[in-house]
Amino acid sequence: MKPNWSLFDSAEAVALAAVEQITLCANEAIEGNNSFHIALAGGTTPKRCYEILSQTQQDWAKWHIYIGDERCLPEDDTERNSIMIQKTLLDKVAIPAQQFFPIKAELGNEAAAKHYSETLPDKLDFVLLGMGEDGHTASLFPRHKFSTSSKAQAIYKAPKPPPKRVSLSYDYIEQAKKRLVLVTGASKQPALSSWLKGDPLPVARVENNSPTLVYLEKIYF
Ligand code: 6PG
Repeated sequence: MKPNWSLFDSAEAVALAAVEQITLCANEAIEGNNSFHIALAGGTTPKRCYEILSQTQQDWAKWHIYIGDERCLPEDDTERNSIMIQKTLLDKVAIPAQQFFPIKAELGNEAAAKHYSETLPDKLDFVLLGMGEDGHTASLFPRHKFSTSSKAQAIYKAPKPPPKRVSLSYDYIEQAKKRLVLVTGASKQPALSSWLKGDPLPVARVENNSPTLVYLEKIYF
């Protein structure tokens, strides 16, 4: 096992542990800087984490929410990561609306990436990430070229629809004080095996920067 990998009995246990880790970091950030800046993951893996988090008591007025990536779809499209985050978390907790920073992907990937790069703080306290079946994370896909100068970048020809997206860049993700990758579900086994073999997957590149924690179901081993 790698140094910062933790195995759990179930996806539910992964979600519970993720909430514990996020709230620990939030309390540390708020104690130190009177605010907590976190980029949340999209997709389906983190949904349960957000549902559990929404039932906890936090100093929500100090939380600032960003998103790791967004799909270029209309603002109210139910496939948007922003809509999922709104439904599973933001509609249930008292985070001030002006402290949620969705990616304006409805503007198109280039304009949205530029705007988001100007919106993001210099450094995030926490980035929560998932992993796709091909080892992508956020919207950083295998064999794609990536920007090294901006905090957010336009994505084209994404193999996971829609093809146009916006993603935090590797450099910006790696500058965060902490990263946590969640991996659950049997469909991720091939990518996980590839990761363990040392294949240059996007998620592996992010993990190379400690402290990156990886929480997985033990079904993979
Ligand atoms: C997206 C997500 C994406 C996701 C992985 C895993 O827009 O699709 O941000 O990066 O984290 O594809 O997706 P699941 O959690 O649904 O398996």
